Amino acid sequence: MKHIEIQSSFGVIDKFSTLDRGIQDLFKQAEIARKEAYAPYSKFLVGCSILLDNGKIISGSNQENASYPSGLCAERTAIFYAGAKYPKVKILKMAIIAGSTKQKTSTPIPPCGACRQAIYEYEHKQVSDIEIYFKGEFGSVLYSKSIANMLPLTFNSSFL
Ligand code: THU
Repeated sequence: MKHIEIQSSFGVIDKFSTLDRGIQDLFKQAEIARKEAYAPYSKFLVGCSILLDNGKIISGSNQENASYPSGLCAERTAIFYAGAKYPKVKILKMAIIAGSTKQKTSTPIPPCGACRQAIYEYEHKQVSDIEIYFKGEFGSVLYSKSIANMLPLTFNSSFL
């Protein structure tokens, strides 16, 4: 058997105030969205803000449902709205902030696998990277230069 190795690398930003001003603003919008999350079942609130190439910011939060699988993550709520409202505009950056109301979290919370796949669809469609920044309610920010960096062996339309 031969082996292939796929490497991912992430930036770590320990001090929020050292982040680029635009990213700080994106996180502020994501925090506003997070406060509007509808998460009565998990009590885990997630906010996501997306910067588009036309300067617009689209935000979303997780939306849960009594029929659990019918709910949707914050990242997909936001990116599907961006795709629906501005289908021809590139998605540049995404900021995600998450944490439980039951305990404080300082661990950066990455997007789940289904959200990575959904975000990757747009990266593939627009043929340019989408930068991802994510954090817990407190603490460091992690940065990925693209979603593909977080999703090795991506599935995309070229296989269909
Ligand atoms: N959640 C997100 O919004 N984004 C993720 O990437 C992971 C999980 C939400 C879904 C659900 O409402 C709650 O967090 C607990 O899983």
